[in-house]
Amino acid sequence: MTLQAGAAILAGMKRSQTGSRFTSDAGILRLMDDLGSALSGSDKKYMLGGGNPALIPEVAAIWRTQMARMLDDTDRFDRVLGQYDTPQGRPRFLQAVAGMLNREYGWDLSPDNIAITNGSQSAFFMLFNLLAGPGVNGAPDQTVLFPLMPEYIGYRDQSIRSIDFTSFLPRIEQIDEHCHKYHIDFDALTVPDSTAAICVSRPTNPSGNVLTDTEVARLDRLAADHDVPLIIDNAYGTPFPDIIFSDVQPIWNRNIVLSMSLSKIGLPSLRTGILIAREEIVRAIGSMNAIMSLANGTVGQAITEELFESGEILRISRELVRPFYQRKSRHALEWTHRVFADRFPYSVHRSEGSLFLWIWFPELPGSTADLYERLKARNVVVVPGRYFCFGTHDQWEHTDRCIRVSYAMDNADVERGIERIAEEVERIWSAA
Ligand SMILES: Cc1ncc(COP(=O)(O)O)c(C=O)c1O
Repeated sequence: MTLQAGAAILAGMKRSQTGSRFTSDAGILRLMDDLGSALSGSDKKYMLGGGNPALIPEVAAIWRTQMARMLDDTDRFDRVLGQYDTPQGRPRFLQAVAGMLNREYGWDLSPDNIAITNGSQSAFFMLFNLLAGPGVNGAPDQTVLFPLMPEYIGYRDQSIRSIDFTSFLPRIEQIDEHCHKYHIDFDALTVPDSTAAICVSRPTNPSGNVLTDTEVARLDRLAADHDVPLIIDNAYGTPFPDIIFSDVQPIWNRNIVLSMSLSKIGLPSLRTGILIAREEIVRAIGSMNAIMSLANGTVGQAITEELFESGEILRISRELVRPFYQRKSRHALEWTHRVFADRFPYSVHRSEGSLFLWIWFPELPGSTADLYERLKARNVVVVPGRYFCFGTHDQWEHTDRCIRVSYAMDNADVERGIERIAEEVERIWSAA
């Protein structure tokens, strides 16, 4: 089914404000729509738009082995498929994750600090709506604060109302002619009383930025001073999947909600999000899980729990997943510089992690929304930058000059995609 924009989805039906909101022209709907249509049809497509991880053969072989082991143990297999988990997750898995993180980082986690969700996307839906929105007993409205735009497109439509996000623009460090990096502008950053949580992705989707340890420590203090949690989205981070190329430390304390996922290590279809938080937040997520879905899918937890217990998940991340994406990132960057050189002004955000290059065309006439349409007509799907800017700063000319390009696909596809991007930018450029 193709998703349609706006009220058309519920056309002719009585609907609520919430119904209208979740069926409006959400950036994520457009992205999923293009993902779906890009994969259909007979023409060769260059799918540089989505966040799907690559299929890494050595890693896929490990999942097959784990699945075969589970199938061989018929009693375990029957119980994995035939029983609901607790709303918080599978007890053995919770213990395995807590044990692994305690061994690795000296944290003091118990299973009560861990909640499983059906993917980390739904963890954010729960967190944002638990915290932001109209206050209790007539208290003022509460918001989630994003200190560094651009941020993950998947957050922008998660709140039940559209007005619940506060956002701040970055300071841009121009490292050289073709490379820049975003930093939190702490001089401009204020935490209004309405703030219920501060949230960042690290590595950041879309830019591939990794907040420095100093920036995270400052955010941590700021959140603690204002008595609100700091949510760190670690979907690409360390210790798993470890798609992070700069040397930074993970951080957790009772004021931090650390969100992890099994998706980017190669198991997106098993929908396993892992939240590390203080007990009250974990209980709240368990309660929402119970109301929304009774329990989560168990298979992702079951096929990886031995890998958490043995620490093998760390080896897979460090020795297989990270080097794979680091090679892909280098290749995509080299190809971009080779193909773009001397044709038009551009700058790529320093690639410090995640699956994406974030390319800025500072003098592009018009918006990358037009570039996106032109590319789509040539079977190349990227994501135009404007969707990654939302909240109070939802209009920023800068992101309208940017695109997000995934380098998770085959190198040859990435190369052809980048070549077409260059051709289209050049056409727009020379026609202006
Ligand atoms: C930064 C970030 N957070 C969260 C998610 C959600 O991932 P999942 O629901 O598969 O865990 C994604 C997916 O692309 C992401 O890029």
